[in-house]
Amino acid sequence: MQTQTTDSKEIAFQKRIDAGDKIEPKDWMPEKYRKQLIRMMSQHAHSEIVGMLPEGNWITRAPSLRRKASLLAKVQDEAGHGLYLYSAAETLGISRDELIEQLHSGKAKYSSIFNYPTLSWADIGAIGWLVDGAAIINQVALTRASYGPYARAMVRICKEESFHQRQGFEIMNTLANGTAAQKKMAQDALNRWWWPSLMMFGPPDAESPNSTDLMAWRVKSDSNDTLRQKFVDRVAPQAEFMGLRIPDDQLKYHEETESYTFGTIDWAEFNQVIKGNGPCNKQRIRARVKAHEDGNWVREAALAYAEKHSKTA
Ligand code: 3HC
Repeated sequence: MQTQTTDSKEIAFQKRIDAGDKIEPKDWMPEKYRKQLIRMMSQHAHSEIVGMLPEGNWITRAPSLRRKASLLAKVQDEAGHGLYLYSAAETLGISRDELIEQLHSGKAKYSSIFNYPTLSWADIGAIGWLVDGAAIINQVALTRASYGPYARAMVRICKEESFHQRQGFEIMNTLANGTAAQKKMAQDALNRWWWPSLMMFGPPDAESPNSTDLMAWRVKSDSNDTLRQKFVDRVAPQAEFMGLRIPDDQLKYHEETESYTFGTIDWAEFNQVIKGNGPCNKQRIRARVKAHEDGNWVREAALAYAEKHSKTA
């Protein structure tokens, strides 16, 4: 039987993508597709795990038992999101140890947004409202991704993100309608988290080296700028409803397009943060490395138990 050449396999693969098929772990896929997905999915998983740090910082300082319980549930959800996504990435033939080593060594990225400090309780509201709000827009699009395990992980993650966004919005709305000091705290948090939230969607389309491949393979269904615009159009009216001012003098609503135009993002800041020079990059990686080392005994015990019981089974 004539073996299919790689070219004919790639043509058949692209036909499956164009037909809207889901690619499963055991299916043939171009090495470039596999590598792209490992890059994107692992960085998504790293983002979920590192994202627990800025929020975890406020669990012991939440202003009420209700707020503490809600934040605890959210941070716990993020750990689960990280585990789903690491497991989904492993279906592409990379081990958990390799993924963790890539994060700790700086080879792999995680979302820029988590390299900013959480300075007040209002930051927890701003993160839920803006960061999880941005994640929902990005992740709903990913529920249509061509790689089956990724798309399916997104379905459950999006349901939990909706709770995250709602609890964040409620914190911000409560503060914005509270005392003058509370409203000032909410405005200060919005001032610090607004532009980094826009950066979450990635560089401008013209400077996105991965988007062309990812869109041709139907991993991404919308471009960075399209999703960023969707976010601004959704969140700007929410800020207005709360009586908070978005820190962008050029933000302007256009009736005819029912959409906003906005100011220029500081891409120099973005590039510095993703190069590791953000306010908290070193602190975040130090915390992750320490947590991994502190958890070594758990991994050793679990492996010893599994080995002992596999012999007696
Ligand atoms: N932070 C860090 N790095 C970023 C970034 C960001 N916000 N945006 C882009 N980059 C990096 C890319 O990784 C790429 O570098 P690499 O090639 O070395 O990996 C480079 O900048 C160029 O960007 P591209 O636009 O070409 O990269 P992508 O096509 O991968 O687009 C993305 C970037 C939009 C983040 C895309 O990877 C994506 O949608 N990822 C899945 C979603 C995700 O990871 N979200 C992160 C937040 S998770 C979260 O918010 C948790 C929630 O519970 C709060």
